[in-house]
Amino acid sequence: MPSTSFAQDVSKLFNVGQVNCMTAIGVHLDSYSYMADPSADNIYADHANARHVYARLTGDETPRMPKGGPFWTPAMLAIFYDWMQGGFQP
Ligand code: HEM
Repeated sequence: MPSTSFAQDVSKLFNVGQVNCMTAIGVHLDSYSYMADPSADNIYADHANARHVYARLTGDETPRMPKGGPFWTPAMLAIFYDWMQGGFQP
């Protein structure tokens, strides 16, 4: 079973409007180097960018994203989760 790829599986889950909205806030949803950045922050011990994105998608961090919905289905969330579990592959 090939591992989940950012380019093949994750990036297409974000639409242009979402990418543009978040780029303005410094969150680069379409950028592998941003989303797979291994750096920690005061909340996550590694890959803080991706983990904050996931927490906003699930609603663990609020306001939940995408702002105003529609929120992701369990299947979409599973793709992003598998990407993280699979080692943030390109
Ligand atoms: C799937 C799509 C989206 C994801 C994964 C996402 C992710 C995030 C993340 C991670 C933050 C926290 C940023 C930070 O504190 O550094 C955030 C905040 C924010 N996002 Fe989004 N976003 C999405 C779509 C959108 C859209 C479409 C809009 C505009 C309509 C939007 C507007 C905002 C705003 C205004 C904030 C700051 C609000 C706050 O934190 O209180 N986002 N989003």
